[in-house]
Amino acid sequence: MEFKELVEKRRSCRGFSDAPVSKEQVEAIVTAGLWAPSPLNLQPFQFIAVTDPELRAGIQKAGMTARQAVGDQGGPGWAQKYPMEFVEACPLILVVVSDPSQGGLGAYFNQPHGALQSASACIQNMMLMAADLSLGSLWFTFFDPDDVKQLLNIPKELEIAGAVLVGTPAGEGKVPPRKPPRIHENGFHPL
Ligand SMILES: Cc1cc2nc3c(=O)[nH]c(=O)nc-3n(C[C@H](O)[C@H](O)[C@H](O)COP(=O)(O)O)c2cc1C
Repeated sequence: MEFKELVEKRRSCRGFSDAPVSKEQVEAIVTAGLWAPSPLNLQPFQFIAVTDPELRAGIQKAGMTARQAVGDQGGPGWAQKYPMEFVEACPLILVVVSDPSQGGLGAYFNQPHGALQSASACIQNMMLMAADLSLGSLWFTFFDPDDVKQLLNIPKELEIAGAVLVGTPAGEGKVPPRKPPRIHENGFHPL
């Protein structure tokens, strides 16, 4: 597939069939993630592949708790109505964690987020590979990371960059429009 076509094919998927994702597909997706850039090539990311239905339900429950917190604090109405059921239904959730102590030299000059930036690039690569394999994916973060850390025994010092839901799409997703590019020439100018 042409790269441009692939980039446009990857859309956030919020409905999955129960068809499992094969071991080969998981390996291909994670390997694509490993090819992401990272400061000093530290590759500060690790992956937790969640297929167990109880754990998937646990991640969904963390989502519902977060949604409740939005409601309790008077957050946006649409977020309070966010449907979580597709989380548990998704056959594979790849939780990507990064180690903030492995963020490269940036810690010395006010750029402390190298590990999380790397993990984000990793997730984008993973989602593009999923799209290339005709799988749907979603970068899911609608939960308190402490809840998911506890559920999956993730050490406190690691950071969750996202839970990447992967599976066969059930139906067509939306194509959210893009804004026109905001390019500033030779310095930032208010547009
Ligand atoms: C860091 C990050 C966190 C996100 N968290 C969520 C989430 O918790 N739930 C969700 O439905 N979408 C989430 N998204 C997906 C965005 O809503 C989505 O990318 C955006 O609406 C554009 O749609 P597209 O991915 O189809 O282009 C997240 C995206 C990013 C980059």
